[in-house]
Amino acid sequence: MLSQVADGLRGKKVTVGVTGGISAYKAVELVSLLTRAEAEVRVALTRAAKEFVTPLTFEVLSGRPVYHELFAAPDPVPHITLARQTELLVVYPATANFLAQAAWGLASDLLTSTLLAYEGQVLVCPAMNQKMLSHPAVKDNIRRLRERGYIFLPPEEGRLACGEKGPGRLPSPEQVLEEINRFFLPQDLKGLNFLITAGPTWESWDEVRILTSRSSGKMGYALARAARDRGARVVLVSGPTALPPPVGVELVAVTSALEMQAAVERHFADADVVIMAAAVSDYRPKERVAGKLKKGPEEILLPLVRNPDILEELGRKKGRRLLVGFAAEAGEALEKARAKLKAKGLDLIVVNDITQQGAGFGADTNVVSVLFANGRLVNMPQLDKLTCSHRLIDLLVESVGRDG
Ligand code: PMT
Repeated sequence: MLSQVADGLRGKKVTVGVTGGISAYKAVELVSLLTRAEAEVRVALTRAAKEFVTPLTFEVLSGRPVYHELFAAPDPVPHITLARQTELLVVYPATANFLAQAAWGLASDLLTSTLLAYEGQVLVCPAMNQKMLSHPAVKDNIRRLRERGYIFLPPEEGRLACGEKGPGRLPSPEQVLEEINRFFLPQDLKGLNFLITAGPTWESWDEVRILTSRSSGKMGYALARAARDRGARVVLVSGPTALPPPVGVELVAVTSALEMQAAVERHFADADVVIMAAAVSDYRPKERVAGKLKKGPEEILLPLVRNPDILEELGRKKGRRLLVGFAAEAGEALEKARAKLKAKGLDLIVVNDITQQGAGFGADTNVVSVLFANGRLVNMPQLDKLTCSHRLIDLLVESVGRDG
């Protein structure tokens, strides 16, 4: 699913420079994604790139003429024109030859000439054979470009076109689209510390069985990525999930509600904003059986005891922090959430009505309503969880601005 965060790319001037590697075909998909996100996409192809992909493909997808000749009438200075029309230049894929030319300031073709005439940010995505990638000359060129402010998206490990295995694969067009999005996001959370919880908690009965919920962690992880991408320092306290840790976020992995509480308490003092998206188990087995509980009578009772309410306790000592809770409700969602907002001393609560399709546990999307302590209510449509997170952060920023 194309992230709706891509809304932020509407009208943005993105130039994709394609150089001559076998993975150049992935640039076709990237240009298609950018076009669908309504970015103003231009494409520059090197001569070698044209051995792999044709200008016509990109012309049709971007709806604009493709730049591939330095000396093509009627524009006598296409590299200057292109540089002026670019807010972000993405080189995807970048070959070893391109890196060398860029590092040494050569202007042998349209793309490298454009680089010299362009003063904005450059995102480079190298892709090549692993031995070429680790060659001292290539490493040295990457270092030079990094020092000059170029941003690199490192290649992935895997099976390479040449049949070898190792680092050198071009990241997917979707990943690059996400990076491109980050360039255009406001850095309105710079200097703020976010403490976010995600996922379920596992409450053990014995060494095999657990009491848990269907939370996947997707909502909390999306919030962490959105806050990170807008400049916040993020601590993510996560129950067990199958999700990869978000880069650039401090991940604190916990298992039970008690562990989550301890981790949250440890990081609370430094937090400016606390968002509890975790589905914390309200109860835990009174005793944990050593080993595996044996099969016995037809019916057994397992006594449970209440877990502490982490958020409620934070609410009592919140100070100037912004405290955000989540509530997953089925039926009379708003009334129940309003009661939780009051009881826990929250600034706002995000309500998922889990009776709705595409909302709540496990889904890639969510449908939420945001209830503020002052009674304000904002209903959001169905959005992928990253876009939903950005909209929530927009509301937080707006509410802080309003309250002075
Ligand atoms: O992880 P996903 O699959 O993406 O799903 C996301 C989600 C549905 C889990 C998430 O959006 C969500 O709604 N999380 C809260 C789930 C819930 O039902 O919370 P609650 O009503 O039990 O608790 C209300 C608030 O108090 C929550 O912020 C919760 O984190 C917090 N709480 C609850 C119990 C407890 N013992 N301590 C707490 O701090």
